[in-house]
Amino acid sequence: MDMQILSTANALADCCRSWHREGKTIALVPTMGYYHEGHMALMDKARTLADRVVVSLFVNPTQFGPNEDYQSYPRDMERDTAIARKHGADALFAPTPSELYAPDAGTWVEVPEMGQLLCGVSRPIHFRGVCTVCSKLFMLSQADYALFGNKDWQQQAIIRRMVRDLFIPVTIVGVPIVRAEDGLALSSRNVYLTEEERAQAPEIYKGLVYAKTMVEHGETRASVLREAVLRRWSSTLPLGRLDYLQVIDSASLEQIEDVCGPATMACAIRMGKARLIDNIQLR
Ligand code: PAF
Repeated sequence: MDMQILSTANALADCCRSWHREGKTIALVPTMGYYHEGHMALMDKARTLADRVVVSLFVNPTQFGPNEDYQSYPRDMERDTAIARKHGADALFAPTPSELYAPDAGTWVEVPEMGQLLCGVSRPIHFRGVCTVCSKLFMLSQADYALFGNKDWQQQAIIRRMVRDLFIPVTIVGVPIVRAEDGLALSSRNVYLTEEERAQAPEIYKGLVYAKTMVEHGETRASVLREAVLRRWSSTLPLGRLDYLQVIDSASLEQIEDVCGPATMACAIRMGKARLIDNIQLR
């Protein structure tokens, strides 16, 4: 069966409804395109979970702030279509913004407390846009599974909370971060890095691994872990400007003082035009 390319909300809903009528399960991979191996891992995992795979490709305007990179966000529909096909998508949903947002659309889905933490401090409307578009995609596809990369840890935790709170009948599946050989987490935004920035960027992950090693050696104080990583970055990452580095409860995203249960160290670093996020599970 060749991959279907769908551009309207009705076409997606009709397609998924007919699959469900045939008793097929559906996995949804929501993306903004410009695919790298991280996206491919999501598609490959989706293929193993469900009978049918829908990949959505939509650069969602509502999750970009007024001074962010919505216009310049990298796009390559032709290459992305070929990759989705190769990685087993049964349908690629690529709508226009006006297809998903009526001119007078005024309904938002928001998890305000979690959405204002971490990335939400510098991107206050970001997660409202993410939750709103994901709700639309979940509603239209009625997917049994939806797959999200662990790199956007906050996004995934917020989506899990939204799905729980609204009783949306979809299972959220997290997929491990895919990294370049030198450790840099793959991101469509890595194309913004200059050669010099790209050479330094793997230090972000090395800092996080350093903290995890400290935990493995018995350190549990979040402040000590944080200071150690910041000290290391001050010499290894001079081109980076810290947005945040926090030790958080992996599910609630709240800052913690002691690493005793499931804990994540999460960061955002600005390097030139890029803002890079990464995280590591400390325990
Ligand atoms: O992670 C992304 O690429 C986007 O935030 C998502 C989940 C596709 C929603 O637009």
